[in-house]
Amino acid sequence: MGDASELELVGAEDTLALPTITLIHMTVIPILAGSGTIFLDGRAHKTIYDGCSVARGHGATVFRFTHADPEHLERLLQADTEPPRLICMDGVNSMTGNAPDVATFARLAREHDALLYVDDAHGFGVIGERGPGELCDYGMRGNSIVRHVGETYENIVLVAGLSKAYSSLLAFVAGPTELKQILKTAAPPYLYSGPSPIASLATALEGLRVNRERGDELRLRMHRMARRVLGGLAELGIVTPNTSGYPIIEVPLHDPDDIDEVGRYLFDHGIYATMAAYPLVPKHEVGFRLQVTASNTDEQVSHLLLTLNGLAERFQMRPAAHATLARHTG
Ligand SMILES: Cc1ncc(COP(=O)(O)O)c(C=O)c1O
Repeated sequence: MGDASELELVGAEDTLALPTITLIHMTVIPILAGSGTIFLDGRAHKTIYDGCSVARGHGATVFRFTHADPEHLERLLQADTEPPRLICMDGVNSMTGNAPDVATFARLAREHDALLYVDDAHGFGVIGERGPGELCDYGMRGNSIVRHVGETYENIVLVAGLSKAYSSLLAFVAGPTELKQILKTAAPPYLYSGPSPIASLATALEGLRVNRERGDELRLRMHRMARRVLGGLAELGIVTPNTSGYPIIEVPLHDPDDIDEVGRYLFDHGIYATMAAYPLVPKHEVGFRLQVTASNTDEQVSHLLLTLNGLAERFQMRPAAHATLARHTG
């Protein structure tokens, strides 16, 4: 990631590469928070949550705000809290496939002298800057939610990884050079752990080349296939919390005990889905996650929709009201 073209991709002053996002959260969040205050999104990814727990152990105070709710966050920010102040949240959510209003959160961070720390593991490589040349509303270049909403890196630290869109064991923190210099001595994995394997660096570089040369075409294909899946689900009356059109599509189940059989049915029909079983998620959020990738084909999407039709005949999916509720709880 050190080369100039990749720095230019995310548009930050600097980036620091480490093997995984998990390592970054565990070590960078405690450094940024110090003995100050963390405002943690109520549905932040487990790895962010764990990073905040480490920070708490180092003297930070952690407050949780209602998922993606800027008004709740603002009320918390208005109270007298110890600096430095850090707001931690996901970009594109790993289950719902939706994204928070990052521009509003960035404004709050600036107004309240806080730093917005965004994990866009799932947006990086998929959504990016908007402009007249874009082929679809995912935007261009896949350079993450920060660029997608037209933000700068003022009071924003972006964390993203290449383990999703690029299938490579590599992640990065993007922000000011000064932060990078601090992390190079203060973040233990940089000094004390091994780097990303050479093979992963090679696939990351190759992936970045593909992104440069035909990333937007691939994203357009993905966009079309995701639209087809979402349209097909709507026709089948299967509810999903996905309102973004991004290619992460969660399907909640009415009966959490169906999860094993549903997983078996999908697997036996050649569908690889990520199962969200209890106690990984609360019972009312049990379901499965479909993710459309650029290497899927239209035929596979047709097969998926047929399989989902069969699934809906055998198992009860969660009715709309409950699915919406599930999205806002926790
Ligand atoms: C939002 C989010 N952050 C972090 C991670 C972990 O990333 P890594 O494998 O780079 O540690 C994941 C999933 O694997 C994720 O969905």
